[in-house]
Amino acid sequence: MAHPSRNYSNRTSSRSFVHYLVLLAFAAVLVFKIDILISQSIIAARRKIITQRHFVRPRPQSIPSSITEFTNGTFNRNFILSWGEERAKIHEHGELLTLSLDRSSGSGFESKKQYLFGKIDMQIMLVPGNSAGTVTTYYLSSEGSTHDEIDFEFLGNSTGNPYTLHTNVFSQGKGNREQQFFLWFDPTEDFHTYSFLWNPKCIVLYVDGVPIREFKNMESIGVPYPKDQPMRIYSSLWDAEEWATQHGRVKTDWTLAPFTASYRNFNAEACIWSPRTRKSSCDSTSESNSWLTEELDFKSREKMVELQKKHMVYNYCEDRWRFPEGLGPECNSYTKIIGNNNNNIVTRKPRRSRRRSRSKRGNRVDFNLRL
Ligand SMILES: *[C@@H]1O[C@H](CO)[C@@H](O)[C@H](O)[C@H]1NC(C)=O
Ligand SMILES: *[C@@H]1O[C@H](CO)[C@@H](O)[C@H](O)[C@H]1NC(C)=O
Repeated sequence: MAHPSRNYSNRTSSRSFVHYLVLLAFAAVLVFKIDILISQSIIAARRKIITQRHFVRPRPQSIPSSITEFTNGTFNRNFILSWGEERAKIHEHGELLTLSLDRSSGSGFESKKQYLFGKIDMQIMLVPGNSAGTVTTYYLSSEGSTHDEIDFEFLGNSTGNPYTLHTNVFSQGKGNREQQFFLWFDPTEDFHTYSFLWNPKCIVLYVDGVPIREFKNMESIGVPYPKDQPMRIYSSLWDAEEWATQHGRVKTDWTLAPFTASYRNFNAEACIWSPRTRKSSCDSTSESNSWLTEELDFKSREKMVELQKKHMVYNYCEDRWRFPEGLGPECNSYTKIIGNNNNNIVTRKPRRSRRRSRSKRGNRVDFNLRL
């Protein structure tokens, strides 16, 4: 009697031992899986924290590890990625730069050097598709409360509607000199060249080599002219859905984020300012820089006026409603040239509120709405 039962119990214990082994193996696999899961979610959480910590200067880790290979490119040599962490990127051995914008932050870059006069070209391809609410800026600016500034700003639009090219010139802290254009091409399909000519005689803005705006030195009639403060080149991509597109009626579609703008073929003939010696590189060179005295000739000015008649959609020099106390003295010569036949005036426009703070908010230019 004893034997069979012992046999039986032996058999049961060996069977339960097999069960126990299977269970153990299963548990081990489960623990391993859970471990992977936990570590993955920790990584994801970290990534999220990093992406949400915007407005922090780019961390060195975000630069490719093979840094020495890339530091000879144009963008590496001339610019720093100043805002938006990994949203600003340099590619193709430093010959291509992209800025992107998502719900938590935009991004930006600025030139390492300061310039006092220059002829500066950049090719830009703007945010494609539905870019409503996005603003891509590309501008020169000095520092301080009485700063000078020359702006290209591209206000995005909903699909099929034109970008607005917004321009402005600040001298000694005073702006309010907006002119806006609709471009005669799709600026998102390809790269186009946007250029500043800035010398002691004039400022000219060009699109693909065609002058679209001229701001002459008219100090002789009391208009301050940017000529004493060195400027840096800045660019940023940021969100301004509150006012940018059709006066804020069309908001950013965040399901399309990230939005990306691209830059290439930066070229500058410019006088480099040394903050240490407080001298410009052009002081010492005897070679003649023809761009330093370049001005629009009669033919190119005529071309510009033609273009403005067709493509300018806002001109501060014709906005008597906004400036009831009188237009700037520089506008007199202007209206004489172009005539006063442009009545396609926007009724509500962005106004620079105050000097952009360069500290925490990146390079963005601030606007305020004003009725
Ligand atoms: C930078 O260096 C890389 C590797 O030596 C080279 O392939 C590339 O052409 C260089 N780029 C420039 C702009 O000199
Ligand atoms: C967007 O398109 C509309 C319709 O064509 C136009 O009125 C507006 O000025 C465009 N630009 C912006 C920035 O809203």
